[in-house]
Amino acid sequence: MSKRFYITTAIDYVNGQPHLGHAYEKIIADVIARARRSLGEDVFYLTGLDEHGQKVQQAAIAEGKTPQAYCDALAADWQAFAKKLELTNDDFVRTTQPRHKAYVQAQLAKLHAAGHFYKAGYTGFYSAKEETFLTEKDRQADGKFDTSYGDVVELKEDNYYFKLGAHQQWLIDYIEANPDFIAPSYRRNEVLGFLKNNKLEDLCISRPLARLNWGIPLPFDPEFVTYVWFDALVNYASIAAAHPELGLWPADIHVIGKDIVKFHAVYWPIMLKAMELPLPKQVLVHGWWQKDGAKISKSTGNIIDPIAVINEWGLDAFRFYVLRELDIGPDGNWTDAGFRSRYQAELANGLGNLVNRSLSMLKRYRNGVVPEKSTELAADAAKAADETRALLQQNQLQAALQSIWGLVNRANQYVDQTAPFKLAKDPAQAQRLDEVLYNLAETCRVLAVLLNPFLPGTSAKIYAQLGLIGTPDKLADASWGGLPPGHTIGEPAALFPRKDEPKK
Ligand code: ME8
Ligand code: MG
Repeated sequence: MSKRFYITTAIDYVNGQPHLGHAYEKIIADVIARARRSLGEDVFYLTGLDEHGQKVQQAAIAEGKTPQAYCDALAADWQAFAKKLELTNDDFVRTTQPRHKAYVQAQLAKLHAAGHFYKAGYTGFYSAKEETFLTEKDRQADGKFDTSYGDVVELKEDNYYFKLGAHQQWLIDYIEANPDFIAPSYRRNEVLGFLKNNKLEDLCISRPLARLNWGIPLPFDPEFVTYVWFDALVNYASIAAAHPELGLWPADIHVIGKDIVKFHAVYWPIMLKAMELPLPKQVLVHGWWQKDGAKISKSTGNIIDPIAVINEWGLDAFRFYVLRELDIGPDGNWTDAGFRSRYQAELANGLGNLVNRSLSMLKRYRNGVVPEKSTELAADAAKAADETRALLQQNQLQAALQSIWGLVNRANQYVDQTAPFKLAKDPAQAQRLDEVLYNLAETCRVLAVLLNPFLPGTSAKIYAQLGLIGTPDKLADASWGGLPPGHTIGEPAALFPRKDEPKK
């Protein structure tokens, strides 16, 4: 059996409700997972929650709950959110699960026995919000720490440290020898620049129990819990180990946001090397969403509630906008006007209109019975299918959608050029009308196959309206001519109902 394609997302801090950024990342990973399955691979998609640490402990205290009760309540919301997004995750990790805690402790014990850790005193600054120590270097010109660190406090305490010095050079060599390890390439260059210009400081991997008790106890010193990042990163391996029969490790892709590159591309590879495990094949880094050009922030009310958008516009409209608007890498800007405009132009007037008029005409002029095969749009469909296949293999989701919409636009143009409503009035043009109707219906079928990883609900609806059984979830089925002559299609219905302009 070939190895499973193992894809993960960052595990989210459970200190609030999911927002657009969380949804975006999980949708990227879901599309890649569905695409790989569509290409014939066995896939394992993991997502989940990061439940330990000071941030969560403080949030729980603020609500007057125990951390576990607080996490349990929010975990239910986050799991419902994964369902709402129709994620095809194969497991959902919570770092408070015994299977994860036991694995982290076993690794810590092993690393300690092998001499990777030492205990030392520390005096300095600490950001609970980012769960990280800060130094004088981190101060801004005005002497303050960036507001993203929240309240920074001064600390004096003993901790355990992970020796990183010996790992710097091999990691540089590894990243240089494996150009795909960090994508996009500008993120790789940033990591290389950082590693070449800074001496890695040893990583603090503990927190004293006196300050933080919401963590995994160090197996070799009961006075300490594990630093939340050392716990969280290990989820990718602990859950792989929880499914030994699947042979998941090493992961193929870790999908993460740009703010946590150092953890995934510096600390995690070093941890794995010390754990004597192979490195993941790729860390795929996406950018951050803003709304109307400003940082998404609860305090300013500048938020997008993905659930509200999905309830109003449908899941596929939401998935389409985030994937089509923003390539994996740069930062994106959500505007409600941009969302509406893509919905109207590309979904309602583009794809929706094509499918609706193609199937309605087949219904009206041929009683819904598929005519003889014709190949007029076969080359256009093959081009879109070939491009989509190649682009999906490189995780180029935005470019794949552009290619698919090339076919949507071509087919809509074909309707305008061939004017089947005119052909239908002239009995001498019956054969020409048959050809046109076949090309349109078959293009709709090919589109259902190509769109499946991106817009699974819409893809299934197109298939059902074509009267076809099953799900169009194999990319190989995109080859031209799958629609059998004589087959009777189902009922056409609007895929993307037109929405009125908002009342001013
Ligand atoms: O960092 N746009 O959790 P988290 C796009 N628990 N992505 C965004 C975003 C935005 N506006 N805001 C956040 C953590 N993200 C850790 C991860 S992994 C072992 C541990 C992304 O809840 C962010 O970049 O703060 C990250 O990839 C993910 O959401 C979770 O962020
Ligand atoms: Mg964060």
